[in-house]
Amino acid sequence: MEALKIDISKVYGFVPKTDIYNLSAKATESAQALEKKTGKGNDFLGWVHLPSSISDTDIKDIEKTAAKIKKHVDAVVVIGIGGSYLGTRAVAETLSPTFMHLKPGRKNPVILYAGHNIGEDYLNELTELLNDMKYAIVVISKSGTTTEPAIAFRILKKHLEKKVGKEAAKDLIVAITDAKKGALLTTARQEGYKTYVIPDDVGGRYSVLTPVGLVPLAIGGFDIRALVKGAIDMEKITASSTGFENNPACLYAAARTMLYRSGKRIEILANFENKLHYLAEWWKQLYGESEGKEGKGIFPASVDFSADLHSMGQYIQEGERLLIETMISVTQPATKLVIPKEKNDLDGLNYIAGKRVDSVNKMAELGTMLAHVDGGVPNIRIELPKLNEYYLGQLMYFFEKACGISGYLLGVNPFDQPGVEAYKKNMFALLEKPGFEEESKKIKSRI
Ligand code: PA5
Repeated sequence: MEALKIDISKVYGFVPKTDIYNLSAKATESAQALEKKTGKGNDFLGWVHLPSSISDTDIKDIEKTAAKIKKHVDAVVVIGIGGSYLGTRAVAETLSPTFMHLKPGRKNPVILYAGHNIGEDYLNELTELLNDMKYAIVVISKSGTTTEPAIAFRILKKHLEKKVGKEAAKDLIVAITDAKKGALLTTARQEGYKTYVIPDDVGGRYSVLTPVGLVPLAIGGFDIRALVKGAIDMEKITASSTGFENNPACLYAAARTMLYRSGKRIEILANFENKLHYLAEWWKQLYGESEGKEGKGIFPASVDFSADLHSMGQYIQEGERLLIETMISVTQPATKLVIPKEKNDLDGLNYIAGKRVDSVNKMAELGTMLAHVDGGVPNIRIELPKLNEYYLGQLMYFFEKACGISGYLLGVNPFDQPGVEAYKKNMFALLEKPGFEEESKKIKSRI
C-alpha cells in the first residue's frame, strides 16, 4: 500500500531548509518522548501505540454490536462534543456520498449529531425528524458530565423511550465513557445499556480509534478494519526510529515550528475536495486544543476550495502575512466525469471539453498554491492517493503524531486543555448550579 506524501519544499523560500533540518534531532527526541512517555502529559499517551494494540476481538465485538443495531434503524444519533464526535464526523462526512441523506433506500444508517451545541431549534428540529425515523443513540462522554451532550441525551433518551418503549430503547442505546466514573456510566449501568470504555490515557481529541470513533462508524457501515490498518501503517512510518527525512510527522512538525518561530501565526488547512470539511474541523480541535496555551501556539483555521477562493482567497493572497497554508491533495477521485463539448461554445469552455472535471480542479490547486506562495504564504502539501478508510486512518494518525511532536517543540503539554474550563465555570455560575454560589455572586456583580 502507498503512504501519504508530504512536500515541504514550498516552505524553503520562507525558512531555509537547513533551519528546518537543524530541528531534526529535537523532532526525533520529541517522537521518542511520546513513545517512551518521558515528556509533558505522559499519562495521556495511550493513543501512540493504540492502532497496533487494537485486537481482532475488539473489532469483532464492535462489529457485532453494530450489526445488531443496524438491522433495526435508519439513523444513529451520535451525542457528543469536541473529541467525542469530531473524529466520527470527519470520517463519515469524508466518505459518505454527498447527497446520501436525500437518497431513498440507503444501505446503511445515516449518522446524525447532537450534543455539540445547545441550540433549542437544532434539538427540536432533530426530534421532529426522528419522529419519522427508526433510530439508535450512541452517547459519548469521557468525563460523563459534559453539559451539552448531557442535555441532548436527556431529551433524546426520553424521545426514544416514548417512541419504542423503555425496554426496546435500552437495546438501541450504546454508552461510551470512562471505565469507572461519571454520571453517564451510572446511568448506563442502571439502565442496562451496552457500554464501551474510553481508555484513561487517551484524551478526547486523540480518541477516534477507540470505541469513540469505531462504534458509530461501524454502525454507519464504514470499514473500521481499514481505518485501523491505515493508522497501524502510519504508526510504523512515523516511529522515532524512522529517519527525519522519511518521517512525515517529524517533517511537518519541524516545518510548521520553524514557520511559527519566523512569525507565522495562523495555519490554514485547505482542501480541494469539500468532503474534507469535517476532517478540517477535527484537525482544528486537535491542534487548537493541543497547542493554544501559555500565550503560545499557531491558530488553526480552514478553508474549502475552490469555494473559499472567492471569499477568503483575497485575504490569503494579500492580507496580513501571518499565514501558513497546508493543502490536502487527493490524487484520485472516486468517480469520473468529463466536461462535455458544446457546439456554439458560448461559455468559451470548449478548450477544456473532453477533460475530466478533476483535471481542472488539479490545475486550480496548483495555480492556487503557486499564487499563494508568490503572495507570501508558505505551503505544505499533503498528498493522499484517494479518499477511503485506509488513507484516512493514515492521515489522522499522522496528524496526531505530528501534533504531539509540535507541542513538545513548542514547549507545552499537548494533552491537556485547562482553558476549556473558563466558559464552563461562568456558565455554571450564571445558571446557579449547586456548588457555584460564590461564583454566581461574583459574576452577577459584573453584569
Ligand atoms: O479533547 C478533549 O478532551 C475535549 O475536547 C473533549 O473531547 C470534549 O470536551 C468532550 O468531553 P467529554 O468527552 O468528557 O464529554
